[in-house]
Amino acid sequence: MTESLLITRIGELVTNTPGGDGPGPGPFAVLTDAALVVEGERVAWTGLSARAPAADRVVDAAGRAVLPGFVDSHAHLVFAGDRSAEFAARMAGLPYSAGGIQSTVTATRAATDAQLRAGLRRLASEMLRQGTTTFECKSGYGLTVPDEARSVALAAEITTEVTFLGAHVVPAEFAGDVAGYVELVRGPMLAACAPYSRWADVFCERGAFGADEARAVLTAGLARGLLPRIHASQLGPGPGVQLAVELGAASADHCTFLTGADVDALASGDTVATLLPGAEFGTRQPYPDARRLLAAGAVVALATDCNPGSSYTSSMPFCIALAVRDMRMTTDEAVWAATAGGARALRRTDVGYLAPGARADLIMLDAPSHAHLAYRPGVPLVRAVWQAGGRVSAETPLRHDRVSFRALFTRKDTQ
Ligand code: NIG
Ligand code: FE
Repeated sequence: MTESLLITRIGELVTNTPGGDGPGPGPFAVLTDAALVVEGERVAWTGLSARAPAADRVVDAAGRAVLPGFVDSHAHLVFAGDRSAEFAARMAGLPYSAGGIQSTVTATRAATDAQLRAGLRRLASEMLRQGTTTFECKSGYGLTVPDEARSVALAAEITTEVTFLGAHVVPAEFAGDVAGYVELVRGPMLAACAPYSRWADVFCERGAFGADEARAVLTAGLARGLLPRIHASQLGPGPGVQLAVELGAASADHCTFLTGADVDALASGDTVATLLPGAEFGTRQPYPDARRLLAAGAVVALATDCNPGSSYTSSMPFCIALAVRDMRMTTDEAVWAATAGGARALRRTDVGYLAPGARADLIMLDAPSHAHLAYRPGVPLVRAVWQAGGRVSAETPLRHDRVSFRALFTRKDTQ
């Protein structure tokens, strides 16, 4: 018999399911004076605390807020090296350019598997402590067949949402031969990486890859069963969003410089607009116009873009605070975008909401409402994290887990 857990006296339970029915997240919704029951890996019941059923174990939330775990749908975690000097120079006035990626490529190629694994797990552990219970992880700093293959293999050790990003930039040894590199990416590199990957991504930007090159890579990925997503219009207007919608990509990411036609395309298609305010923070670019996208009816997700160049944050609460303060998203919109929106961007119907049948990925805040994530920026408000029904803790030793952070933490059976 699976043990049941009742979390009771929840001041505010963010469910993202107004009717309490699934499957998958709906619009933003909360219950107050609420309770939630977990059975095994799933949510079994949500409702008013006064009507909560009995359970084997009880956790008293004492008025605190409980939310779905964050779904970080865009992160680059497999890399070596440090670019703090580049960041400091940028803060002193230098612009961001895609060229900095090359220095991470050099360091990543020189690193051992053990070094890359240690860095990846450190970042994944940071994420989990800050409430991220599902995360995507891209390759893209290897850019040779063996270095990309080991990047996706390492990522697959700790998440199911692995993205092949061989088309991140053209590596130095292929300078002047973009076509040759694209053939490598869509041929042998893709073949080596596909077994470990769910997604394929391309940095579609001036200085990286154009629309035809991106299309060639992503259609080759589709032929091997990899679903497309695109880095689009990060540094300037470009063809990425239109291509994402044309290919039925799950997400167009960044969306910082959109044309009216881009906004219309996102509003009318199934492609999520994933906004990455950490990148604008870290590059001093203008923030994307979230209000314009929301007003047009586009689905907006928030993610960290955690990477050593443009956005070295693993914190979804920080991104929520930026989105609320600087992108004028409401606190409801930002929290939805960081949970249900991320689930939509990863085409997941089991996470990003809390209702019977959802995976029991949830976080408890040391605060009475989700608004505190933006109201108290920089404060570590995530008090407890459950993933697939198991309480997770950074103090416990490593062990395999069935879900995305397998190999990171053991379950703690007591609260
Ligand atoms: O999403 N835009 C491309 N890739 C990353 C930056 C990578 C880097 O600077 O190392 C991004 O911002
Ligand atoms: Fe990125």
